[in-house]
Amino acid sequence: MIKVSKTEDGMIFNLSNQKVSYVIQIVDNKFVTNRYFGPALPFFAESRDLDEGHHAFAVYEEGNKFSVSNLPLEYSFSQNGDYRQCSSEVRDADNLPLTFAKYVSYDEEAVHPDNLPQLRSKNGNFLNLYLKDETTSLEVILHYFLLDDLAGLVRWVTYKNTGSKSLNIEKANSLQLDIPDTDLNMLSFYGTHANEFVPSVKPIPDGIEEISSNRGSSSPQHHPFVALIDKHFDLNHGNFVACNLMWSGSFKIGLEKDQSNQIRLNAGINEDNFDWKLEPGTIFNTPQAILLFGQNGLGEMSSLSQQIIKDYVVESRITKPLLTLNTWESAYFDIDEKKSLEAVDQAKEIGANLLVIDDGWFENRNSEDGQLGDWIVDKDKFPNTLQKISDVAHQNKIKFGLWIEPEMITTSSKLFHKHPDWILGINSLRNKLYSRNQLVLDLSKIEVQDHLIEVLSKLIEENQIDYLKWDFNRQLAPTFSQGVSRDVQGKVEYKYVLGLYHILETLRNKYPKLIIENCASGGGRVDAGMLYYTDQTWISDLTDSLGRFRILTNMATLYPLEVFSSHFSKSPNEQDGRILPVETRMILSSLGSLGFELDLDKLSSSEIDMIKELKDWYVDNYYLLHDSICLPLTPLRQNATDTIGVLLKGKSDSLVIYSYGATDAVHQPQYLPLKYLDESRIYYVADRKISGVELNYAGVTIPPVMGDFRVKAIKIFG
Ligand code: GLA
Repeated sequence: MIKVSKTEDGMIFNLSNQKVSYVIQIVDNKFVTNRYFGPALPFFAESRDLDEGHHAFAVYEEGNKFSVSNLPLEYSFSQNGDYRQCSSEVRDADNLPLTFAKYVSYDEEAVHPDNLPQLRSKNGNFLNLYLKDETTSLEVILHYFLLDDLAGLVRWVTYKNTGSKSLNIEKANSLQLDIPDTDLNMLSFYGTHANEFVPSVKPIPDGIEEISSNRGSSSPQHHPFVALIDKHFDLNHGNFVACNLMWSGSFKIGLEKDQSNQIRLNAGINEDNFDWKLEPGTIFNTPQAILLFGQNGLGEMSSLSQQIIKDYVVESRITKPLLTLNTWESAYFDIDEKKSLEAVDQAKEIGANLLVIDDGWFENRNSEDGQLGDWIVDKDKFPNTLQKISDVAHQNKIKFGLWIEPEMITTSSKLFHKHPDWILGINSLRNKLYSRNQLVLDLSKIEVQDHLIEVLSKLIEENQIDYLKWDFNRQLAPTFSQGVSRDVQGKVEYKYVLGLYHILETLRNKYPKLIIENCASGGGRVDAGMLYYTDQTWISDLTDSLGRFRILTNMATLYPLEVFSSHFSKSPNEQDGRILPVETRMILSSLGSLGFELDLDKLSSSEIDMIKELKDWYVDNYYLLHDSICLPLTPLRQNATDTIGVLLKGKSDSLVIYSYGATDAVHQPQYLPLKYLDESRIYYVADRKISGVELNYAGVTIPPVMGDFRVKAIKIFG
């Protein structure tokens, strides 16, 4: 609900639901200030007065009681004496900065940012605040969408040039939030290939701290997320304000602790390579940013974020257990018709219902040095084309999936010779920058987008593809478009991401049953933007299930299990040589969507029997392993060899998954409080009747085990 009231010098907008209140006040008839973000209020009474002092070094307008550098502003502009990091930089046609846009009006219309991922606004309230700079006639519209049922809201901003001259937007954040609390830590996630989502908790320093990617994609190096957390924040205690940007490109999240110890949070697209010429009559939309608030630590943050992503972002086409057999770690580039047909038999044997032919199926692709860009089936490897494999799979009621990396190209491709200007690059005379031997197609160009839609549609239709594994194995550099005017260069990164979204959306609309898996050398582009357009995500190239469990449980701070895919692979593992029992590999690969990525013919019959048994267990518990909310029973981890416990909480039943990590010689039972069960309910663990209170506080018993890296799954019947 949004309550609007008038004041002497402005307005108050109280955005409240059962869980949270967010209060905005217009003061001095022009400044948009944040007055409250916290637990739901019965009413707002301005208990914290605004600071009216003109403190040392403060800048103010003549006769004005407020200094702009003290106000908690919802959005800020450059060069106006608010020396903190600003959220917007705009220059007019004479290259002069726009220093302020003043509040003008509001409405509560439902609006949506065109062509961008966004919360599917089923339930909620909109508020749009219109700000205007009279000199340039630039309108800056601050949008808010408050969810009905959860402690979250979404913000984004529209720039509209209502004047007669063009303007240049040099920075356009999605949100700014000034927080009056001081002594906070920050939680973020960083990492690299095969080691995604490493947690970082540190004090917010005096001055400026930044989490950013300038890689043209969100990246495993830095996730577009930050949470401001209490110093004593732990599994179940502590306030948090968290911000997750729905954006798959370069981003910047800035935190600034100012001289009066307020903290300013700014989040948006990275302005480093950004310069948007806004012609008269046109608009520019920033990506959406999701804001969360809670008082009960990591468990509440995970539950809230997963619920929002499940209910408002993901629209998955996976309605039944999808059991994948993927050819990558069994054949690598050496895939062919014979191996693919054998894989169909193996899939049948263990009850997999999706066969994915990974990299290596197309012409001139026998190693990482091979060709990318043409996507023509290699007739030497597949003399009867892929159609044959697809037909045989379908005859056996197995879906047919294909790996592809559409955004990439190599100089060995026919496409490159035909369109050398379709790659991102400064121009053909300067050095091309390779990564994994490949270059990046310029998706900011409409002709490239159209070409990819055509090529992918043909592949999908000719081979009746049910599933695409959409890979992205390098990041963008340089982010220049060839043969375009100077004015367009500053738009390339933004337009690239919109081009990618456009292709994904077009394919989704054209093929309503097509399942798309998001992959970027594993979890290199896991973000709320990509989750809007895809059905699941390959979270890491680390197929050591223990290492991946560490990554997955950390990722569950933000994203739900239903988007993760996890594959059972061979032991010793291909990436780190870790040796794990079959049971550990199967149970830990059962979180999310279970798959297999090994030559099953190399396993013994007893191993196959155990796999089949655990696969049946996966199917029986699918609604918990895939659709539940994953809650932490142990803190976020940097090391896979530590113990890790999670509670998969379903509507009635729950499942504890506990990984013992590296063993020790203390043979005593441990007790694991389950924290999140309904305390008014009675549960059964095996045939023992136990109250929710007892399970939450005394917990379940974790018996000692011998040997490294065992796991335990305990079902809690509700
Ligand atoms: C990436 C993916 C892998 C595999 C290879 C193929 O690394 O993450 O799963 O598909 O590419 O080249």
